[in-house]
Amino acid sequence: MEKPAILGGVPVRKTPISYGRQYIDEEDIQAVVETLRGDYLTGGPEITALEKKLCEITKAKYAVVVANGTAALHLAALAAGFGEGDEVIVSSITFAASSNCVLYCGAKPVFADIKPDTYNIDPESVKKLITPRTKGIVAVDFTGQAVEHDALWKICKEHNLIFIEDAAHAIGTKYKGQPVGSIADMTCFSFHPVKTVTGGEGGAITTNDEQLYHKLMRLRTHGITRNQSEMVHPTDARWYNEQVELGYNYRMTDFQAALLLSQLKKLDMFSARRKEIVEKYNAVFADMPEIFVQKEIPESDTTRHLYILRLNPDKLTCDRRQFFDALYAENICCQVHYLPVYWHSYYEKLGYEKGLCPNAEKYYEEVMSIPLYYSLTDKDVEDVIHAVKKLVEYYRK
Ligand SMILES: Cc1ncc(COP(=O)(O)O)c(C=O)c1O
Repeated sequence: MEKPAILGGVPVRKTPISYGRQYIDEEDIQAVVETLRGDYLTGGPEITALEKKLCEITKAKYAVVVANGTAALHLAALAAGFGEGDEVIVSSITFAASSNCVLYCGAKPVFADIKPDTYNIDPESVKKLITPRTKGIVAVDFTGQAVEHDALWKICKEHNLIFIEDAAHAIGTKYKGQPVGSIADMTCFSFHPVKTVTGGEGGAITTNDEQLYHKLMRLRTHGITRNQSEMVHPTDARWYNEQVELGYNYRMTDFQAALLLSQLKKLDMFSARRKEIVEKYNAVFADMPEIFVQKEIPESDTTRHLYILRLNPDKLTCDRRQFFDALYAENICCQVHYLPVYWHSYYEKLGYEKGLCPNAEKYYEEVMSIPLYYSLTDKDVEDVIHAVKKLVEYYRK
């Protein structure tokens, strides 16, 4: 049996690999350089072209490109009209931004539990949390797998709720053949460097609703409009624009948009490689009783952003912390996605208590995300598998 590096054995790799990273090629660099030499650094043609491209990819009628995924969620929550006294049901296993956007608007996030096998929001848990104050849901396509749209839509229709999909992980994913981005009332994307495509930072909201679209466009730029039909004091004076509500500066630059346009040309290639790596991992881990493999629902054709390695505590002598540290010592860097949001001390101060979502809490104690990104080589993937096998053998009960 091989001795784990953490106990003095030889590490599987000499050099570390991270759990996620961007892939930037010469074409991407040229696209940025050309934009820097052009007339517009912000508010220019690359933004419009990116919005058009996102509509093409998602089949949504409208896209609004913004500074990052958090800004996308904030504007979607504002456009949804969430405010004081409202409750919004949010996935419990997600990045804090998914529920912070509800707090930004003065509304209250209410956390729904996850399904124990897909790790996505459980529609049955959502149903139990509905009250007369419930105004909407923010459902996260966790790891890139689409949420259960049919079940969630049914709940939203019955209770007149706004459905915001946090698709920060899910560009390129389809549900029953329809791209994520054209299904919910509003869908929010993030283009942070660990995501499938990146603009350095970046985000977008897609929608099929024209009124929401105009509202999002205004909110992105201070609540200011140039459209006479939206003004209280309309005039055709060329210089005139009018602030009609309170908005923000959440604009993206044109050079980020140029990078994203170039990255999106490679989306199918990125997606295919990610799927291939997931299959390689699944093929090995599915046969190991010490590891749980994330269940994939047949409705979702998933461009996977994260690969979750979940330990079966009944079969191992170590806990997640020991396994995580031992993988690091093998030079396989991992991360944990995520702490149940309401366990953050900020949320604790707001009065949320442990025990709200038992599946989410159990999930959190058992997981880590292992490397998954386009430029991982087959050798890298073999190293990850080797390291996991080595540790499982050592810590097997
Ligand atoms: C599920 C989820 N929602 C929202 C965000 C926020 O996106 P950004 O980092 O672009 O603000 C992230 C980013 O990590 C995320 O993973």
